Amino acid sequence: MQTHDIRERFTQHFVRAGHTPVPSASLILDDPTLLFVNAGMVPFKPYFLGQQTPPFESGTATSIQKCVRTLDIEEVGVTTRHNTFFQMAGNFSFGQYFKEGAITHAWTLLTNSVDDGGLGLEPERLWVTVYLDDDEAADIWENKIGVPAERIQRMGMEDNYWSMGIPGPCGPCSEIYYDRGPEYGAEGGPAADDNRYMEIWNLVFMEFERGPGDKKGNFDLVGELPQKNIDTGLGIERVACILQGVDNVYETDLLRPVIDAAEAVTGAQYGQGQEADVRFRVIADHSRTGMMLILDGVTPSNEGRGYILRRLLRRIIRSARLLGAQGATLERLMNSIMDSMTPSFPEIADNRERIVRVAVAEERAFLKTLESGTELFDRVASGAKESGTTLVDGSRAFELHDTYGFPIDLTLEMAREAGLEVDMDAFNAEMEAQRARAKADNKAKKHGHVDESIYRGWVDEHPTEFFGYTDLTGESTVIGLVAGGESVTSVQAGEQVEVILDATPMYAESGGQMGDRGRLVAGDTIVEIEDVQKVGKRVSLHKGTVVSGGLELGNKVTAEVDHAWRHGARQAHSATHLIHAALRQVLGPTAVQAGSLNRPGYLRFDFNYTDQLTEAQLAEIAAITNEAVDNDWAVNTTETSLEKARAMGAMALFGENYGDNVRVVEIGGPFSMELCGGTHVSSSAQIGPVAVLGESSVGSGARRIEAYSGLDAFRFYSKEAALVSGVASSLKAKSDEIPDRIAALTERLKAAEKEISQLRQAQLTNRTAELVGNAEQIGSFELVAVTLDGVGAKDLRSLASDIRGRMNDRKAVIVLVGKDGSKVPFVVAATHQAVSEGVKSGDLVGTFGSYVGGRGGGKPDMAQGSGSDAAGIDTGIAAVRDTLASL
Ligand code: SER
Repeated sequence: MQTHDIRERFTQHFVRAGHTPVPSASLILDDPTLLFVNAGMVPFKPYFLGQQTPPFESGTATSIQKCVRTLDIEEVGVTTRHNTFFQMAGNFSFGQYFKEGAITHAWTLLTNSVDDGGLGLEPERLWVTVYLDDDEAADIWENKIGVPAERIQRMGMEDNYWSMGIPGPCGPCSEIYYDRGPEYGAEGGPAADDNRYMEIWNLVFMEFERGPGDKKGNFDLVGELPQKNIDTGLGIERVACILQGVDNVYETDLLRPVIDAAEAVTGAQYGQGQEADVRFRVIADHSRTGMMLILDGVTPSNEGRGYILRRLLRRIIRSARLLGAQGATLERLMNSIMDSMTPSFPEIADNRERIVRVAVAEERAFLKTLESGTELFDRVASGAKESGTTLVDGSRAFELHDTYGFPIDLTLEMAREAGLEVDMDAFNAEMEAQRARAKADNKAKKHGHVDESIYRGWVDEHPTEFFGYTDLTGESTVIGLVAGGESVTSVQAGEQVEVILDATPMYAESGGQMGDRGRLVAGDTIVEIEDVQKVGKRVSLHKGTVVSGGLELGNKVTAEVDHAWRHGARQAHSATHLIHAALRQVLGPTAVQAGSLNRPGYLRFDFNYTDQLTEAQLAEIAAITNEAVDNDWAVNTTETSLEKARAMGAMALFGENYGDNVRVVEIGGPFSMELCGGTHVSSSAQIGPVAVLGESSVGSGARRIEAYSGLDAFRFYSKEAALVSGVASSLKAKSDEIPDRIAALTERLKAAEKEISQLRQAQLTNRTAELVGNAEQIGSFELVAVTLDGVGAKDLRSLASDIRGRMNDRKAVIVLVGKDGSKVPFVVAATHQAVSEGVKSGDLVGTFGSYVGGRGGGKPDMAQGSGSDAAGIDTGIAAVRDTLASL
């Protein structure tokens, strides 16, 4: 049975039982505790905790969630069942059915015949585990379902108690295992062998909330959830492995073609030996994970999610090299995995070109340094071995990471293969130091307080109502005050405060739009609001200063948005949408937004694109944008379901966890349609002019466009115009004659410089005779030593060789020092005879250089250098005299 078919059967089974099908969320949710979504329940967390009411009529849902887990990356390909990307199929009940319902639903899907829409697994091969004291679940399995008691095993916290590893919902669980047969290991059920008995489904009976601790059961329960819930997770890949009768998850219908592609690009054969097979499986697994991450908007970088992607791609590249690949391989591998995955993830089709581009750019960058890095590693490794240690210096590992882009795990892997270890303490210390440097550069501006737990009460119970789309002023009640990192009941004039209101017209920073400025007024109390930030996505913190009076909890205030600020912010945000649309018209749909920022008068827009934009492309983007302004299109915002919005063609951005109801901002119909919560002008002409400033690179595969909007665009153009007319009047030309005039001036300047240099040369040549005549006698040598103002290194050299030419038959040394601005260039030359008496120009240049704060070098007959301290010239020449006298 094909993987796609297994997915369909799962969804249909639960839809028939009344569950609402929910599409997979992006792998990247805006949750600081998670790098990637790693379980099907993640998008539903607020429903389990009772923070939000589940929007499903039946109170039940089903999904097949994209998941990435990279903790077990070392296990990939070594065991038969570890994937870094997998699809977790789940059914969820929020206060509806509980243990019996979950167990029955799971059992019927697994064991119903294929003709009946089930998966057709033999019941005799299924084993289950339950939590130690969960008699209720054990009883259901044995007496309601009929699983014999000997195939029901009890396990402890570590295995049969599930939580996300952090404070949140949790509960005992029951797992279903499939017996793959004696060729896979010992008898005795999952307690004895978890390779032979492969876990396929985890049913979590979520009824408690846990506190801090680890994932292994070391935590306290802090209370019961408001209701009993069900969260289950079936591993689609593992079921595919069983139903397709293959040995491991890498040989299923979706990944096997990648192994074939890897055979083609490396020339090696799969199935010829364990070590090579592991590499093939790593390639297949990582190709898929890398592709899915790029699809969801991750680009390779050295931090966080980007680092994981980089590490995966680089492991593929290295594995392919070790299997014999010579050149680039990722394009072929990406194409193969995209072909496999598109039936279940049709959005891949629109992103193929972008995915290949990001992967190939990373490959190109890595291949450039792979060789030199490997050389460095080999040197370090053999150095370590020679000096009888098995420890690789941590600073060398850091250098490999920092200079050659070797993810540390690659270095560790290479070290392991060479029988070495890496001094990780030293490596981590270097990394920490680097991070501290980066942090200092990028001081977090968001919440002054790192500990957000003080806001939790409001986040859970008092989400801020936003009415600022329609009104810029309104009455609100103060429901929270935070000063100095603590919740307080009142604040006085002069204090910095974060005010939480029940409702507000002020926009909190999100979606790239900066928070509003404004004020809170109550009688003679005025609080100037300097920023508004969201906490827990639901509560707005109005950050400001109490200018006069004081504020107490419960006070009624008038909240006013600064009109000019909002006007500018609207202009900039709408302009961002126009630029985004124009960009896609010019560059094609693969230019995907990667981030944006807009504040009154200014915007920047980052997007994934590997090539630098040409002047012509930029000009076209600017023209399309300003024409869209000129069209005076109405800006329409509508609220609708995510599904409808997508059907309308609205652009949804990766990494956003859109709720069920989304807001679509549309400018000019199909021209620009985006899911966006920001504030916008009501017709495009209100944006005013948009001045595109230029574009630049912001890290691998991403570029940035910057622009001014509204009056700031006008000011920018005025300034440019003033500059141009200033230039025109100094050139005494009309502005459109400037380019020709400057070209002509540059020509003349070049010619003049050439002439001056020739004249100076001639002048110097004329002085040769005089300088030779003034040579002083030092011991048996003749020395010509002079300082020449305004003469540069090149002229000094040719003069020195002229003089030497004239003194060819004598024992002569020439020291010429120039002064060229703040530089002190110098040249020492020696005739053939002087050299044979032991004069070394290189040494003399060194001696002299040390007096003028410089260095130099060269051959015995000619050497040169440059310094910066003209005050040392005379003593420097005296030192040369002394050296000659002593020869
Ligand atoms: N949340 C549970 C897991 O990840 C079941 O879906 O295993």
